[in-house]
Amino acid sequence: MNFHVMTLFPEMITAWMGGSITGRALKKGILTLNAVDIRDYTLDKNRRVDDYIYGGGSGMLMAAEPVVRCYDDLKKKIGSGSCRVLYMTPRGRQFDGSMARALSHNENIIFLCGHYEGIDERAIEYIRPVEVSIGDFILTGGEIAAVMMMDAISRFVPGVLGSPDSAFTESFSDGLLEYPQYTRPEEFRGMRVPPVLLSGDHKKIDEWRMAEAVAVTRERRPDLYKVWLEKEQRKKKKSHKKRKKRNEI
Ligand code: ADE
Repeated sequence: MNFHVMTLFPEMITAWMGGSITGRALKKGILTLNAVDIRDYTLDKNRRVDDYIYGGGSGMLMAAEPVVRCYDDLKKKIGSGSCRVLYMTPRGRQFDGSMARALSHNENIIFLCGHYEGIDERAIEYIRPVEVSIGDFILTGGEIAAVMMMDAISRFVPGVLGSPDSAFTESFSDGLLEYPQYTRPEEFRGMRVPPVLLSGDHKKIDEWRMAEAVAVTRERRPDLYKVWLEKEQRKKKKSHKKRKKRNEI
C-alpha cells in the first residue's frame, strides 16, 4: 500500500506515521509514505498558497493552482497503478471501518488535505476526489483526518499487524464493540479475571466473549446492535432454508 499525502504540513504526517505500528510497517516496506508539500508547487514568488475569499467571509482559502499542479505531478509519478483520491472535508461521506477495509485493497491512495478555510472549488472539480469526513466537527486542517484514516486502513493491509486476523476480530469488524480483555495478574486490587478466561475451554471462552460483545454493544450502541441483530437474523434464515432444501433432496 502506497500512501501519498498532499499537504502544506508534510512534517505532521511523517511524524505521526513514523511511530509505533505504522512506523514498523514503513520500515519493512509493507507501507510507503510520500508526504508532498503543496507549497512546492506555487508559482507565487513569495511561496504563497492561500488568498482572500471572493464574496467576502473570514479567513483564507487555498488557491487552485498549486493544488492542481501538485496533483498532476503526483499522478504522473504514480503512473498506471490503481489509485484512489480522497479529499478530507467535513462535508464528505463519514469514514468508518468498512470504508477502511475496502480502501485497503488499493495500490495507491492520495489524501488531499485542505487547510485554512479549505480549497478553491475549481481544484476539487478538476481532481474529482471522493470526499471523506471523520466526523461532524471542524478540524483546523485535513492532516489529522488523513493520518487517522491511514492508520485505520493500514490495519487491514496484510503484514501490518502482528497477527493476521487481529483486524478482523476487533471492534466493528463483525459489527460489535469489543468484549473486555485482561492480562496478568489474575487478581488486581481485589478485582479478579473472569474465571471462564482461565478455564482453557476455548469454546466456552468464545461464547463468553461473544455474549459480552453483544451486551456491551446493546447497552452503548443500540444503533450498531440493531444492524448486527438484523444481519444475524438474515444469516439464520438463510441457513435454515439451506438445511430444509438439503432435507427435501
Ligand atoms: N477537515 C476539517 N474538518 C474535517 C473533518 N471533520 N473530517 C475530515 N476532514 C476535515
